[in-house]
Amino acid sequence: PVVPVILCGGAGTRLWPLSRRQHPKQFLALAGKTTLLQETVGRVGDAARFAPPLIVTGEDHRFTVVGQLLDQGREPGRVILEPVARNTAPAVAAAALVAEADDPEAVLLVLPSDHVVGDTKAFLAAVEAARAAAVAEHALLTFAMLPDRPETGYGYIHLGPELPGHPAVRRVAAFVEKPDRARAERFLAAGDHAWNSGMFLFRAADLLAEMARHAPQVLAAARAAVAGQTLDGRFLRLDPQAFAAAPSISLDYAVMEPTDRALTVPAALGWSDVGAFSELWSLAGRDPEGNALLGDVVALDSRDCLVRSDGPLTAVVGVSDLVVVSTDDAVLVAPRGDAQAVRRVVERLSAEG
Ligand code: GDD
Ligand code: MG
Repeated sequence: PVVPVILCGGAGTRLWPLSRRQHPKQFLALAGKTTLLQETVGRVGDAARFAPPLIVTGEDHRFTVVGQLLDQGREPGRVILEPVARNTAPAVAAAALVAEADDPEAVLLVLPSDHVVGDTKAFLAAVEAARAAAVAEHALLTFAMLPDRPETGYGYIHLGPELPGHPAVRRVAAFVEKPDRARAERFLAAGDHAWNSGMFLFRAADLLAEMARHAPQVLAAARAAVAGQTLDGRFLRLDPQAFAAAPSISLDYAVMEPTDRALTVPAALGWSDVGAFSELWSLAGRDPEGNALLGDVVALDSRDCLVRSDGPLTAVVGVSDLVVVSTDDAVLVAPRGDAQAVRRVVERLSAEG
């Protein structure tokens, strides 16, 4: 079975005041009752296909992670604790070393804990296609999402020809992480580029071999950190000094850009990384006036608003294209289309300490 590696370290501030430093996006229920982490774990819950997950998170979040899984009646599996955040390359390297020690043939499915995947059936089919190609080709598989705007916060995959014998899989002509605006616009116009979803599938051994080539310092630090691990029930603590020595770099920059072993599965998964309130508005069910109403809220003579309350009764009257979010201790009102608005508030608040 495939071992899900769930990355649960994001600091997500773009959905403030829903997400907070101590309560990032993966721990939130955005539309229904289950949180993004719970949905992510649930998607890989079929024991016939998947081993129990390896979750990688920070010390501060360990009880939240375990609590959210137990609430769903799920076995949390092992939880790898990072003494400090070093971005995704060291986190994935540590998970790969732990999985490889259990089983030298282990196949990993790396999943962000804070994304939405609307079509689980399509997701499972894409994972199976990726697994077959990864094992046959010793390749690093990405999942390519159809782009609809020149987003600069994503990786772009230049799609190559079909992999012979694997009709769902294509070669990767190039992988470009977070291009500037002009390049992103060219990629979109060319029509032969797709977004990287941030999910990956590979044999642990193949990932480690590519790390040895392209990011030897990351691998060395992760190796020392795993060698110096201490076990505390289900918690696996990485050696703090060794892990802190790892360069802080994402898997995308450290391995996916330089590797020549990448393949991709283009797929329509109903995927979103819910990077802004505008995406939450698109994903949520809307009333005939275009309002997404979540929680104890009322909208009168209003259009195309996202109104959400996790606390007090919240009413909007005679407004349009707004995001109105209230929690027990903070309220946000912003234009729905302005993704920068929230960032500016958070920056101001952190500046004030
Ligand atoms: N455990 C752990 N430790 N997890 C982390 C860490 C860390 O230090 N840093 C980030 N993560 C988790 C985040 O919680 C998220 O689930 C995932 O890893 C990806 O990290 P992001 O910081 O959100 O990456 P990104 O959005 O800049 O870019 C990635 O995702 C895009 C799609 O949303 C890249 O893979 C892009 O290529 C991709 O397009
Ligand atoms: Mg992200």
